[in-house]
Amino acid sequence: MEPRATGVATATDGSAGREQPHVRVAVIGYGYWGPQLVRNFDRLRDTTVTHIVDLAPARREAASEAFPHINVVADVELALDADIDAIVVATPIRTHYPLARKALERGKHVFVEKPLTASVAEAVKLVALAERMERTLMVGHTFLYNPAVEELRRIVADEAFGRVYHVDAIRVNLGLFQPDINVLWDLAPHDLSILNYILDAEPVSVSVQGEAFVRPNIHDVAHVMMRYPNGALAHVHVSWLHPSKVRRITVVGEKQMAVYDDVEATEKVRIFNRGVDVPDYTSTFGEFQLSYRYGDIVSPHIHWTEPLTIECQRFLDAIRTGSRPPSDGQNGLQIVRLLEAMDESLRMGGASVALEPEDQPAEAHV
Ligand SMILES: NC(=O)c1ccc[n+]([C@@H]2O[C@H](COP(=O)([O-])OP(=O)(O)OC[C@H]3O[C@@H](n4cnc5c(N)ncnc54)[C@H](O)[C@@H]3O)[C@@H](O)[C@H]2O)c1
Repeated sequence: MEPRATGVATATDGSAGREQPHVRVAVIGYGYWGPQLVRNFDRLRDTTVTHIVDLAPARREAASEAFPHINVVADVELALDADIDAIVVATPIRTHYPLARKALERGKHVFVEKPLTASVAEAVKLVALAERMERTLMVGHTFLYNPAVEELRRIVADEAFGRVYHVDAIRVNLGLFQPDINVLWDLAPHDLSILNYILDAEPVSVSVQGEAFVRPNIHDVAHVMMRYPNGALAHVHVSWLHPSKVRRITVVGEKQMAVYDDVEATEKVRIFNRGVDVPDYTSTFGEFQLSYRYGDIVSPHIHWTEPLTIECQRFLDAIRTGSRPPSDGQNGLQIVRLLEAMDESLRMGGASVALEPEDQPAEAHV
């Protein structure tokens, strides 16, 4: 793709004499996740974090202590008025839309933490606004930049894996309870974005059983069932009410099976050469026998880089060149659409909600 006019200043990188535009970024929200984003952007080449913005005095104090060279302010207007190119939004979900909209209207590139917005209507407006302003809109679906997920995607796409039968994803722990969103909006964006990415498709229907055990009306446990167009079935279990931390995705294919365990330190991905073969033809029921294959278990070497570093770099690349990261605004909209359908299913006691093709964005991009 041709580099586009970005409006960002050009600077020499100092090493090979190559020139690339210098990008100035403000990070909004310095709670649990914001510091991770500041740390990453702060150490990337030809990038300056000019401002950290947080409403809470205690968080501003923590930011000033950790990053004394960065301006720390309470008002986002101070950052938008300064000579910045982009904002990174790491605030609670209900604030994503107003902050992102304001920044896009001022001609800034925008990175928003997951999920993109609190509703489909908001996400549609943001995507359209970013298009109109010719600015990058990206959402923090961090796992799309995780080398282990990339490896899983490669394995599943390989002919040796065969057709995907079903996927089982589990993301549970004790807490962290969120004050204003249910467990689906908090945890499921990760699994939904990973599943769509590795299956290279979007579900056609979804149904959810869940419960709000601890606080009224805020579901803390949910079991999601999704059907994909090629017949694959997916189950996603998310919970804030579990004794231990589990983050695991199992993909069962016709010829192989693969397990991605994010908690595992070294062997994050394992391929099981296991399966069931059905004989081509048997003349009587008595002769019918399945044959089980128990082959090797292989754990491929994964060259590891922190996913957040890759994600931040992809945002900067998109600003500089106009390239589209896998978690662009459209991808953010797809996930918000799924989350809304899941809430609808919950309200209807677990009924299946069809995701009609016309409900899906025309330029689906995962
Ligand atoms: N990608 C990931 O793996 C990942 C992990 C954790 C959280 N997140 C996402 O990051 C976002 C923030 O989550 P968190 O856990 O850090 O929340 P948090 O509540 O710990 O922090 C949010 C911070 O934003 C500040 N804030 C709120 N409104 C503001 C405003 N209008 N202007 C400036 N500051 C404001 C609050 O004072 C607080 O310090 C959420 O969207 C969440 O889903 C992503």
